[in-house]
Amino acid sequence: MDEKLWREIDEKEPIPAHILERMEQMKKHHKEVIDPEFIKRPTMIEGIRRAGEVNTAVLDEVGKHIRAGMSTQDIDDIVREFTHARGAICAPYKYEGFPKSVCTSINNEVCHGIPSRLRKLHDGDIINVDCTTILDGYYADASRMFMIGNVSDARRKLVEETKRCLEEGIAAAQPWATVGDIGYAVAKYAHAHGYSVVRELGGHGVGLDFHEDPFVAHVGTRGRGMVLVPGMVITIEPMINIGKRGVCIDDYNGWTIYTKDGSDSAQWEHTILITETGNEILTY
Ligand code: MF3
Ligand code: CO
Ligand code: CO
Repeated sequence: MDEKLWREIDEKEPIPAHILERMEQMKKHHKEVIDPEFIKRPTMIEGIRRAGEVNTAVLDEVGKHIRAGMSTQDIDDIVREFTHARGAICAPYKYEGFPKSVCTSINNEVCHGIPSRLRKLHDGDIINVDCTTILDGYYADASRMFMIGNVSDARRKLVEETKRCLEEGIAAAQPWATVGDIGYAVAKYAHAHGYSVVRELGGHGVGLDFHEDPFVAHVGTRGRGMVLVPGMVITIEPMINIGKRGVCIDDYNGWTIYTKDGSDSAQWEHTILITETGNEILTY
């Protein structure tokens, strides 16, 4: 965000004193506490919420059109055109050299799949579509799974249980809990259902930038890791594998992450605001 604008908001909407005090207390108790610059103020939260509304509408639009026979480039076209029509832009485009506007990850692709005219959707595929929208400088990040035609029971179950993993993570994302509580909740659910959890990638702070502190691992120990302070905005985005947890990167495009063992993988993502009483999903 523009430095001057940030300063103006910081002066008009300071972090409430009782929150700063509690942050100090937690530090004294040797908890990891975020730099106050990452705590969002009401004006910023409004901006992120509006970006979230566009992001949700984009994913809804994808859901209306996605079907067998379509290429992942067709999804990229829908996302880009719809986002631009709403006066927003797609964060992935040219992000660290990423060539497209959205990530499309099919079956054994864990994340960061690159849309292509050559990659068509087939009956029985499962695909993650991950959109990040920038509106008026504010970022919102969410992804969903789509099932194409007749999907095997194993794939359908993976998609549904991965959504549950995200829901478990969101339920654990309470004020003054920690990032470790989120990871613990996600992994506990995944492992209880026989799945493995990808560790190399995770959720993140979001809102004024694409990826902010903290890193949100989807495994963890209760009470460990950074404290969740009201006003923090983070993503939770578990990547869950049917087989082993290991992943590898595409040597040719430098982006796409696959499961090492070739097993199927699913992911769901939301942008979550930590509030004083719980949390709010900003990408519904
Ligand atoms: N949207 C992804 C996330 O959830 C990041 C994609 S980075 C890109 O963090 F460059 F591949 F788009
Ligand atoms: Co994302
Ligand atoms: Co994300």
